[in-house]
Amino acid sequence: MIRLFSRPMPLVLLLAFCTFIPVLMALVRVVQIPTGTWPEDSARLAVAPFAWGLHAAAGAAFGITGPLQFALALRRRFGRLHRISGRIFVVAGAVLGLSGLSLLAQVTSISTAIVGIGRGVFGLALLGALGMAMAAIQARDIPRHRAWVIRSYAIGMGSGTIALVFFPIYIISEAPPIGPIFDLIFIGWWTLNIGFAEFLIRRFFPTHTRIPA
Ligand code: HEM
Repeated sequence: MIRLFSRPMPLVLLLAFCTFIPVLMALVRVVQIPTGTWPEDSARLAVAPFAWGLHAAAGAAFGITGPLQFALALRRRFGRLHRISGRIFVVAGAVLGLSGLSLLAQVTSISTAIVGIGRGVFGLALLGALGMAMAAIQARDIPRHRAWVIRSYAIGMGSGTIALVFFPIYIISEAPPIGPIFDLIFIGWWTLNIGFAEFLIRRFFPTHTRIPA
């Protein structure tokens, strides 16, 4: 397994596979929101067009630069590109978290409170994790920086990978996966993603061994 997480291409392909549905959806919304061509079942988000548009754009940028960032981190000769893509990742992550919290405050949710609470907690956690990643890189502590970037990515994208679970359910049952049980699965899955990232950090990327910058 360590081979997978230490080789750029397989890692990028794996992360892209796990996240392509939410990233694609975010890109579609980036076009639909300014042109007013969003689908009927998302129309209630139009009460907060600015936060909605920003959230979709930030989600797409975060989802695209995340895998790229991990691949570039493994390829030391692309240091400059890694720094540029890293800045986009951090700004996109911060906008994603802030706009997500703003949507939470403005839009009437169709989900149960557990989803609202989960989004609130993980939105704040994303901002905190990005702050820790920035503080670590300023202190030139690369292992701690890497660990907080992995955590940020898992917190931010953890909600998106649920599409891998819900999409097949939707195809098989021909009914949208909504209701308290699916809300629980959604937050449970999001938490599991973050837990898996934590496992990877502890198992393969310990923060107590210093790697030269
Ligand atoms: C901590 C991370 C995140 C938080 C707190 C968050 C929060 C939210 C909230 C509160 C909504 C409104 C939900 C509703 O009432 O229906 C929403 C919608 C949305 N989110 Fe996120 N989100 C996060 C991550 C992401 C990511 C990573 C992406 C994309 C890669 C994304 C893309 C979207 C899109 C496209 C919508 C609009 C859905 C629609 O148009 O129907 N979000 N998000």
